[in-house]
Amino acid sequence: MAKNLVVIGTQWGDEGKGKIVDWLTDHAEGVVRFQGGHNAGHTLVIGQGSNQKEYKLNLVPSGIIRKNVDCFIGNGVVLDIEHLMHEIKTLEADGIEVKSRLFVSPGCPLILKHHIALDQGREAMRESKIGTTGKGIGPAYEDKVARRSLRVYDLLNPELFKKKLTEVMDYHNFVLQHYLKKDPIDVNEQFDLSMSHAEKIKPYLADVSQKLYEANAKNKNLLFEGAQGSLLDIDHGTYPYVTSSNCVSGQAAAGAGVGPHMLHYILGITKAYTTRVGGGPFPSELDIETEGTPGYQMSTKGKEIGTVTKRKRRCGWFDAAALKRSAMINSLTGLCITKLDVLDGIKKIGICVGYELDGQKIDLLPLGADQVERCKPIFIEVDGWDENTFGVKSWDKLPRNAQHYLKTLEKLCEVPIHVVSTGPERDETIVLKHPFE
Ligand code: GDP
Ligand code: IMO
Ligand code: MG
Repeated sequence: MAKNLVVIGTQWGDEGKGKIVDWLTDHAEGVVRFQGGHNAGHTLVIGQGSNQKEYKLNLVPSGIIRKNVDCFIGNGVVLDIEHLMHEIKTLEADGIEVKSRLFVSPGCPLILKHHIALDQGREAMRESKIGTTGKGIGPAYEDKVARRSLRVYDLLNPELFKKKLTEVMDYHNFVLQHYLKKDPIDVNEQFDLSMSHAEKIKPYLADVSQKLYEANAKNKNLLFEGAQGSLLDIDHGTYPYVTSSNCVSGQAAAGAGVGPHMLHYILGITKAYTTRVGGGPFPSELDIETEGTPGYQMSTKGKEIGTVTKRKRRCGWFDAAALKRSAMINSLTGLCITKLDVLDGIKKIGICVGYELDGQKIDLLPLGADQVERCKPIFIEVDGWDENTFGVKSWDKLPRNAQHYLKTLEKLCEVPIHVVSTGPERDETIVLKHPFE
C-alpha cells in the first residue's frame, strides 16, 4: 500500500522543511504543496565540498531536485505566475527538467498586482506591524474567502477574465487610492500581463486531485510539503501575527484536494531551538545582538536570516509548551529535530516548559497574540555539550548530553523523535525510525 506523508513546520516557520522533504523524496514519487505561496523559502543543500549546490525554492515543491519525482501545486496555494516562471527558469538554468514534472491546479487563486500593493500599503500604515513578506499573500486569500478571486482557470476565458478583473480592480483601486493614498493599478496593464501569463501556465495545468488519487491507487508514495508553521496558522497561530492560510496537517487534504484517509503519517519539523521572523509575541525569545550569548550563537552559527525577506530571524530557546499545541492540532506521528549542531558548545541550554499567565501556571501555549504576549516563560536548564555534532549520522555518535537533551524534548512534547538533522546537506541526518518504512 502506498504510504503518504505530510511534512509540516511545528513552530513559526523555517524549521528546515525543505531539507527534510528533499531528503525524504528518495522514497516518494510525488511532492505536493497545499497552502501558502511564495512567502515560503525552502533551502536545499545538495552534495559536499566544491560540488555543493544550494537551491532556494518558494513555490516549486522541494521534490523537484530528484529526477522521476512529480511535483504538484494544489488548489490551496495562492499563485504568482510571474514568480513561478522565474523560479522555473532558474531551475532549468541549473539543468533541472521541470516542464514534464510540474502540475498546477487550475483552482489556485491568482496573486495580482493589486494584492501586492495592498499588502505593502497596509503594512506601511499599520502601527503594530505583522511584518508580512509583502508578496500579496494576505489580500489574495481575502479575495478567495470573499468569493471574488480570479483563479488560474479564469485565464483560459479572456472575455470573462476581463469582466471579472474590471469589477474586482474597481473595488481594490478605490481602497488603494482613497484609503491607502496609493496610485491605482491600471486594469488594462494587469489584463495584458495576465494574458501573457495564461500562455505560460497552460502547459502545467492538470487536475491535481485526480492525479493524486490515481497515483495513490497505483501505490505511489506521496509527500505533502507544508509551508510556514503551525504557530503562523490563520486559526491556531498567534493571531493576528500569522499568515493567511491554514498551515496545519489537516490542510494537506483540503489544499491538495484529497481525502484525509490518504494521509498516513504526519512528520513535525522542529528546530532544536526556536526562531520567528516578523512581528508577534515570542515567549522564549533571547537577545541575539550580544556576542557570546546563546541567542547570538543561534543567530550567527544558525545563519538565521530570512530566505525571502533577508531579515534577521529572532531566536530563542526551545518552547515545549508551544510544541505541545502543535502536536495536538497536527496529530503528529513523529518529530524531526533540526539544527541540533547549532547548539554545540552552549554550556547550559534552556527549555521553556510553560508560562505564568495572569498569576496561573500553564503548560500549553494559549490561543491568540494578546494572551501569548502576557505569558511569562518558565524555563528548565539542561547541560550542554562541547563536542561537534555537525554532520553526525548516527544516534550512538551523539554526545551523551545531546542525547539527553533530545530525550527531554521528546518527553515534554509527548511525541517520539524519529529523525534528527545535524547539517543542511540531505545526508547529514540521523534516522531513528524512517517515516516511509
Ligand atoms: P524551511 O522554510 O522550513 O524549509 O527552512 P529554511 O530553508 O527557510 O531554513 C532552514 C535553514 O537551515 C536552511 O538554510 C537550511 O539549509 C538549514 N538547515 C536545515 N537543517 C539544518 C541542520 O540540521 N543544521 C544546520 N546547521 N542547518 C540546517
Ligand atoms: P517557510 O515556508 C517564516 C511570516 C512573515 C510574517 C507573517 C505573515 O519558509 O517556513 P505573510 O507574507 O505570509 O502574510 O506574512 O508570516 N512568514 C514566514 N515566516 N517562514 C515562512 O515560510 C513564512 N511565511 C510567512 O514573516 O511574520
Ligand atoms: Mg523558510
